[in-house]
Amino acid sequence: MNALLFERPVWFATGPLILEEEPQEMEDFTYHRPVLAAEAVELLAPHPGSLVVDGTAGGGGHTQAILKTGADVLALDQDPDAITHAREELAHFGGRVTLRQANFRDAGKILDELGVGKIGGAILDLGVSSYQLENAARGFSVMRNGPLDMRMNPGSTISAADIVNRYSEEDLTRLFRELGEEPAARRVASLIVKMRKDAPFTDTLQLSRAIEKVVGRHGRRHPATQIFQALRIEVNDELGALEQGLRALTARLETGARIAVVTFHSLEDRIVKNFFRDHSREWLDRPEWPEPRRNPDYDLRLITDKPVEPGEHERRTNPRSRSAKLRVAEKIG
Ligand SMILES: C[S@@+](CC[C@H](N)C(=O)[O-])C[C@H]1O[C@@H](n2cnc3c(N)ncnc32)[C@H](O)[C@@H]1O
Repeated sequence: MNALLFERPVWFATGPLILEEEPQEMEDFTYHRPVLAAEAVELLAPHPGSLVVDGTAGGGGHTQAILKTGADVLALDQDPDAITHAREELAHFGGRVTLRQANFRDAGKILDELGVGKIGGAILDLGVSSYQLENAARGFSVMRNGPLDMRMNPGSTISAADIVNRYSEEDLTRLFRELGEEPAARRVASLIVKMRKDAPFTDTLQLSRAIEKVVGRHGRRHPATQIFQALRIEVNDELGALEQGLRALTARLETGARIAVVTFHSLEDRIVKNFFRDHSREWLDRPEWPEPRRNPDYDLRLITDKPVEPGEHERRTNPRSRSAKLRVAEKIG
């Protein structure tokens, strides 16, 4: 591992809402390390002079670690605040880093605009940044009051308030069950629909306190965490963006170049795992076929058979890393 990768703290930390279980450790959120950075960069193995796409620039932690290997970086983030901060953080790398406010699902279009054909690697470090989570005005926090927003890209149209106030009870139940994996999904949806008849939901504490009444407190995790996760995933179409982003980035990898993805919950990890599996099988077989057929999507080799998880030290010192999983695959000719 390259110890230099950690020589400077970064402005962002990575991770899911799980942070909110551990208020004691939130005090120094501003100066956490990016999750699994050394492992991701080592497995990405970028060549000096090649161009790597970092689809989730955040505070620039992974971007910086890649730049230190001698590779150049095109860093994307859909949040304009992240791009502003990453630009300051990475100014000393000059022209070796290009920053664009964009969704990584549009990576192909951005590369076309820049006149870039193939790339020497790609990385995604999914979820919200600590800046987004801790900045109450962005509306991601279950514990700090702010507008019920949750848009990573403030220019996008649907906010969490729109969903909470407009979705039908069935749609809310499905959302909380499927994207939040919340056992009390139906009861939470029913309470929301009842309460919003009196007054629409406008801010985060109003919602998290209502959820707490239904779910109750169990363990250290805030009872609204799963529902907030579901809303955040829906607002930002995170799973749709991930599927499109994986396709767009993999299509641009040159032979031998790698893609690394850090996920923070099972829904994301399943998409990455299935995508890598579907693209790394040379042959497909079905009982109804007389013989196996060549897989038209076969273009990857798995570098990580099992996901890489943070070591004991990182788990202890960076609670956000605890649910992180890193998967890496390599483009084949
Ligand atoms: C966990 S943070 C990344 C932190 C970064 N790797 C670092 O080391 O500082 C995730 C970032 O990805 C951005 N993001 C999430 N989904 C995105 C998408 N589909 N397209 C572009 N950016 C996205 C978020 O706005 C957030 O800034």
